[in-house]
Amino acid sequence: MSENYVYYQGELVKEDDVKISIRSKAFNYGLGVFEGIRAYWDDENEQLYAFKLKDHYERLKQSAKTVNLDFDLSVEDLCKGTVELLKKNNCRQTTYIRPIVYNDSLDIGPTLDHADVKVVMYTQPLNKYAGKSELSVGVSSWRRLSDNQLPPRTKATAAYLNSALAALETKRAGFDEAIFLTEGNHVCEGSGENIFLFKKGKLITPSTSDNILEGITRELVIKLAQEELGLEVVERSVSRTELYAADEVFFSGTAMEVTPVVAVDHRIVGTGHEGEVCRKIKDLFFDLTLGKNPKYVEDCTPVYDK
Ligand SMILES: Cc1ncc(COP(=O)(O)O)c(C=O)c1O
Repeated sequence: MSENYVYYQGELVKEDDVKISIRSKAFNYGLGVFEGIRAYWDDENEQLYAFKLKDHYERLKQSAKTVNLDFDLSVEDLCKGTVELLKKNNCRQTTYIRPIVYNDSLDIGPTLDHADVKVVMYTQPLNKYAGKSELSVGVSSWRRLSDNQLPPRTKATAAYLNSALAALETKRAGFDEAIFLTEGNHVCEGSGENIFLFKKGKLITPSTSDNILEGITRELVIKLAQEELGLEVVERSVSRTELYAADEVFFSGTAMEVTPVVAVDHRIVGTGHEGEVCRKIKDLFFDLTLGKNPKYVEDCTPVYDK
């Protein structure tokens, strides 16, 4: 028995009251798209800040439209529903929010027309996702899906089998996380996060045409690097061995936040420890997620009335 509430079709209901059939196309074929959002707990002010809600729900709406799982709830409805859910569950620690839009039709066949589209979201306490403050990663032999196979841009549930296979392989090989290459052998991203490298004063990240998820944290890191650190940021295709030769490598993502990568394929990156650029971006990131930076305060939606 769960005491938790979830958001289901525009309403807050008890988690145990939401059922999904074993016949659901979402379960049988992975026909759904989803988001991962964080809400940051500020202990000092006893406030919870939902981070970049609007951006996440705009991406969710776009993903749903791309895969023909359109639904009526607006971005504003979803933002409001999220705040209400966090309040209802009395979330008083850093929390992950998982909205899912899925095809709940029950007939046989992987179809996306005439879908019974459902919208659900749940909350989950989540502190550090990576489990370590510095990561050793390996390039996976599994290639990232391409836009013409299963568009990674849509954050489709089915695409995460691809992520899980890469993570399984690299974890079994003793690494903390996987890096995908594209079919064209360009560096793509991690199993659930974007990647950056710093070399000769420039911050470099794979371009959006290299089958990455267009990460919301990635966009923020680019902005912080340019506007707060005055760095040149280059979005372009990246080769595998550029990672070995980089001064710094780090990941960005909602779950992963900003986390340094200190070895790739057993090659030490830079000093073998978190680099200065990563540290500065991380500091800026954690400061602004708690609504402490006036320039980024709009990104933080306070949950509790004060
Ligand atoms: C495959 C993949 N790449 C990148 C990201 C990072 O995206 P964001 O910063 O929007 O969380 C995620 C997480 O959602 C992901 O699953």
